[in-house]
Amino acid sequence: MDTVLITGTTSGIGKAFAEQFAANGSNIILVSRNEETLRQQQESLQSRYHVQVAAIPCDLSEANAADRILERLSQLDWPVDILVNNAGFNEAGFFTETDLTKELAMIQVHISALTALTKLLLPGMIQRGYGRILNVGSTGSYMPCPCDAVYAATKAYVLSFSNGLYQELKGTGVTVTCLCPGATQTLFAEKANIHNTLLFKLFVMRPETVAAIGFRSLQKGKRTVTAGLYNKLLVLSAKLLPVPVINSIAQRMVRG
Ligand SMILES: NC(=O)c1ccc[n+]([C@@H]2O[C@H](COP(=O)([O-])OP(=O)(O)OC[C@H]3O[C@@H](n4cnc5c(N)ncnc54)[C@H](OP(=O)(O)O)[C@@H]3O)[C@@H](O)[C@H]2O)c1
Repeated sequence: MDTVLITGTTSGIGKAFAEQFAANGSNIILVSRNEETLRQQQESLQSRYHVQVAAIPCDLSEANAADRILERLSQLDWPVDILVNNAGFNEAGFFTETDLTKELAMIQVHISALTALTKLLLPGMIQRGYGRILNVGSTGSYMPCPCDAVYAATKAYVLSFSNGLYQELKGTGVTVTCLCPGATQTLFAEKANIHNTLLFKLFVMRPETVAAIGFRSLQKGKRTVTAGLYNKLLVLSAKLLPVPVINSIAQRMVRG
């Protein structure tokens, strides 16, 4: 039976991932900040799916977050077979007007914590000859986004890092998949105040659908996957069109 550690499980795509893995019979380690929601989620998953569930309350924007998670894991003594780096948020707007504290926390969560967790859990996976890592990027991983510049840049890192590592790990039994969702119906857009923008009016996917796509791609050990046909077309156009054209489309999408 696999053990999967998922970050950002208290809502949205991460919550859907936890349901999907538990329904598949995996033991789950939940990581998010909200202790009360984590505890309820732990009890609910355990009673409905009869799998073992642990909850690690942790703020991934804190510098030593990954070390603290590892410390807790060593007490649990559950080797992690699957790591889903999903936690994230957005801080959108003109860079001169956005909140630097939130942007630095975003860099910490999307880049530093994701990198550190991968670094700390990978050796065990390689030693056991089996492991799966799924990193949640975004369609923004493929295009620079005006009025969401820091967010898109962090997600470009997620894609680049995952791609490089995928190649390095060939033959080890460990794969790295980068899942790139587009607009998805979670708390994400409302928290960043972008829920009334064109991006979230045009084509919005359900988190369960996005997680199911990620789950299947992870099982197959795919390198990258973009969720949904509309988002695949968006990513294709980002690869084909000149940056200034993509820039103005992206800006229109996030400014409404
Ligand atoms: N929704 C979209 O349109 C969309 C599109 C592309 C990519 N994505 C990506 O999908 C991933 C999941 O987002 P979502 O849409 O499911 O958003 P969501 O519903 O807001 O869920 C985000 C999750 O991340 C956790 N989280 C946020 N900051 C954290 C921190 N500092 N430490 C620990 N956990 C933290 C939250 O839990 P707590 O608040 O309890 O900590 C929550 O469980 C993110 O990486 C996001 O960038 C989303």
